[in-house]
Amino acid sequence: MTELDSLVEAARGSFAQAQTPADLENAKALYLGKSGRITEMMKGMAALSVEEKKTFGAAVNVAKQGIEAALTARRQALADAELAIQLKAEAFDVTLPGRPLTQGGLHPVSLTLERIEQIFGSMGFEVAQGPEIETDWFNFTALNTPEDHPARSMHDTFYVEGGSEAAPNLLRTHTSPMQIRYAVQHVKAHRAAAGAPSEGLYAGEMPEIRVIAPGRTYRVDSDATHSPMFHQCEGLWVGENVSFKDLKFVFTDFCRTFFESDDLVLRFRPSFFPFTEPSAEIDIQFQTGPLAGRWLEVAGSGQVHPNVIRNMGLDPEKFIGFAFGMGPDRLTMLCYGVNDLRLFFDGDVRFLSQFQ
Ligand code: PHE
Repeated sequence: MTELDSLVEAARGSFAQAQTPADLENAKALYLGKSGRITEMMKGMAALSVEEKKTFGAAVNVAKQGIEAALTARRQALADAELAIQLKAEAFDVTLPGRPLTQGGLHPVSLTLERIEQIFGSMGFEVAQGPEIETDWFNFTALNTPEDHPARSMHDTFYVEGGSEAAPNLLRTHTSPMQIRYAVQHVKAHRAAAGAPSEGLYAGEMPEIRVIAPGRTYRVDSDATHSPMFHQCEGLWVGENVSFKDLKFVFTDFCRTFFESDDLVLRFRPSFFPFTEPSAEIDIQFQTGPLAGRWLEVAGSGQVHPNVIRNMGLDPEKFIGFAFGMGPDRLTMLCYGVNDLRLFFDGDVRFLSQFQ
């Protein structure tokens, strides 16, 4: 074995001992680096004759190539080993069943609200949203329910900061405040457009008010059919010639469409609300299915009281209309045969996912 052969052997040996790429680069420097063995030999060739240079140079080159080949092979081996370790660490079992992507969905009451909006939308009703924290004025007084009115006691609610001591702000007990809020805006816009003075009751031309206002409402109440937070949807139609007959037609049409039942029967049972006169509670009766034959209350309604028409900024001699307030939670219960309202608000996905 020549000196060069043993040099290549030695290089191969020290490369084999290198366990990391850094070790390997250090070992490489001993042979191929600036002052490595091969480099030294090449420098030493300066003293040789031309003939000797030829043969010795060729032999050194062969050795150099051998060392480089050994280096490349070891580099590759180290890289392969590292990859193998990494793959092992990150290994996953491709035979495991996949984790399904669960898809969320709308809450059953939201589905009902969407349907309500769609049905009334098709009858030309706008959809309005209003604040859940209300003033005493909008929730009661403007709706013909002054401070000492006994009807207030049926609307016990949660009082919050703001307003006056005698009339603090509150969580709205119904969506009826939206009757006033929406109408006042509507009247303001159209009397300005008509060039009428902004004060006093308006008796000019005006497009009809036709709006529904769905949203959350609050009362101090909790049992199987009452929750402290519940939903209502207000409806209001005011014009020059809107009568109780229109209320009956519109609400009957809505119920039959909503429940997809053409033979559904409605009953307008006389009732009292301070903000409507006359007033009626609306009951429905299914002719078929598990609830057939029972009267089920779904809304309060009536012809808008003249004092309320005034608080909208309108002249009650000219404008007349109807309002209703229904319970989307109750409609949802009837729709799906759910018997406890609180289930809707417990947030149990096992219950809620049944409605998708
Ligand atoms: N706001 C009434 C309630 O919550 C319902 C209602 C609305 C009645 C509109 C008449 C007209 O009980």
